[in-house]
Amino acid sequence: MCGITGYIGKRKACQVVLDGLCMLEYRGYDSAGIGLFDEKGKMQVAKKAGFVSGLKKLAYDRQGCCAVGHTRWATHGLPNTANAHPHKCGRFCLVHNGIAENFAGLKSDLQKKGKKFLSQTDSEVICALLDDLYDGDVLDTMGRVAKMIKGSFAIAFLCNDFKDKIFVIKKNSPLAIGLGKDESFVASDPVAFAKYTDKTVYLKDNEMGIVDKNGLQLFDFCKNKKTVHIQNTNLFCDGDGQKVKSFTKKEIFEIPRALRHTANDFFADDKIISKTIDIFSKNDKVILTGCGTAYNACLVGKYTWEKVLRLPVQTELASEFRYQNPIVDKNTVVVAVSQSGETADTLQATKLAKSRGAKVVAITNVSHSSITKNADLVLHTKAGQEVAVAATKSYVTQILLFLCVASVLCKQSKAVKEIKKQIDDLPYLASKALLLDDKISKLAKEHCKKQGVFFVGRGLDYPLATEGSLKLKEVTYMHSQGFAAGELKHGSLALVDKNVLVVGIVTQKKVADKTFNALHEVSSRGGKVLVVTQFEKMAKEFGADGLLCLPGATDLLMPMIAVIPLQLFAYHVSVARGINPDKPRNLAKSVTVE
Ligand code: G6P
Repeated sequence: MCGITGYIGKRKACQVVLDGLCMLEYRGYDSAGIGLFDEKGKMQVAKKAGFVSGLKKLAYDRQGCCAVGHTRWATHGLPNTANAHPHKCGRFCLVHNGIAENFAGLKSDLQKKGKKFLSQTDSEVICALLDDLYDGDVLDTMGRVAKMIKGSFAIAFLCNDFKDKIFVIKKNSPLAIGLGKDESFVASDPVAFAKYTDKTVYLKDNEMGIVDKNGLQLFDFCKNKKTVHIQNTNLFCDGDGQKVKSFTKKEIFEIPRALRHTANDFFADDKIISKTIDIFSKNDKVILTGCGTAYNACLVGKYTWEKVLRLPVQTELASEFRYQNPIVDKNTVVVAVSQSGETADTLQATKLAKSRGAKVVAITNVSHSSITKNADLVLHTKAGQEVAVAATKSYVTQILLFLCVASVLCKQSKAVKEIKKQIDDLPYLASKALLLDDKISKLAKEHCKKQGVFFVGRGLDYPLATEGSLKLKEVTYMHSQGFAAGELKHGSLALVDKNVLVVGIVTQKKVADKTFNALHEVSSRGGKVLVVTQFEKMAKEFGADGLLCLPGATDLLMPMIAVIPLQLFAYHVSVARGINPDKPRNLAKSVTVE
């Protein structure tokens, strides 16, 4: 996955496009590039391995009013300058997000005709194909190329014969056009042009278009004209990335606000509540699915719904779901959780579920995202834009929505009242957990050189252990694993010695003493133990090497509170190891490839 931007109008296109790319770095940041027509109408390309900030130094002040830009997350070919977009072939200069699955065959056909390639990318092949088939009719050529490529693509390109136009094509990867006064914008996500316009056209699959300063003309791949539907996007714009020291930390500290907004929004919407009740009361099978952190939220969701509703719930990794021939029919509800709403595996899971007649509920942080188009019901986490790659505030709001849904499905009025009261207290309790920040920073310095870190917990603390571990891996590059505390003695204990840290998460009353037993097994083998708990007395009796005491709360709330010190720990270890936690190597925030 990658980020695309484009601009045509009266401003300096380089500045608009490069500022937009900064907003899209969550989609990848291996390399960046820009293609433009300069003030003399000459096509120019500038590209560079690394962050957009590097490219800005090279190209920010260039003249010209029409440009396309790209920030890359490498799929085909190394993350170097040659493989960076745009790719230039003959008259064309192209940026691409997605994967052309049949690129190898297309490439070898073009090579046989004498075409030389400068990169290892599938994207350069698309550009070369345009150049090869072009006969003066761009639209016709675009349609032919679009039909030849198998896979997913959002494409924007310039053509030397039309110096005031950007051409766009979309299939299975997101692409939006922003319409301003005498200016137009192109982006993978409208957040890139939100500060200029809120008039957005979301391209549908199998559409292509011509963008100029007066707007957009839309077509299908057979050149039939299509109607342009303009939507209003009122996006929260998070300002200039340069001014924030760390998005990861900023976003962790936004958790109380995110929780408050998510709960208020859900309970204020009677239509959403009655639709929720309607969908779940008519179906007898529930599957929760997602990837990465969103999947870890599903694990908490399972525990929550089974506990409150006594409803059997299955969890499936979205990346496995579609390959398992899952048992899904019209009596199934598939709940797909995705911060971005663009993760390819999660999207494909929803498409498969729909094709088998299931109801699809999307839990997402981005209200206009692709996943919402496949959903019968959209539950919106109100975390606000999350920029750092590692999900933090979005995770807690996903869990909160599981709890909110449980409260409206629960038939026992006393329990409902109790859950709602707990939800009211939640932002305050989260703020109290944030006060542990200084202490965590010291602990992080102490443990940042450990050989490995295990996170263990029982009951609801088990899914939390998997998330604590994922966070640490993502932003510190330390080896880490999260598992059920009872499993430690069945293998992993063999790895424990003084170079290993075990983080024991103990927030669930019923199983607290059992988890402390497992932690005793660790300390008696010389392993270091850090305890995160609301049971201070028990922890002191145990005698942990480090102790993080949480504000007291009921079991169901604890995942949303206890994850805060785990996120802060990952953040501080990352800083102590000299890593930028906002942009960990090899990762991207929104993974739009399978
Ligand atoms: C990427 C990110 C993870 C995220 C996962 C799912 O792998 O690095 O932090 O949890 O995608 O993203 P989603 O947008 O679907 O929640």
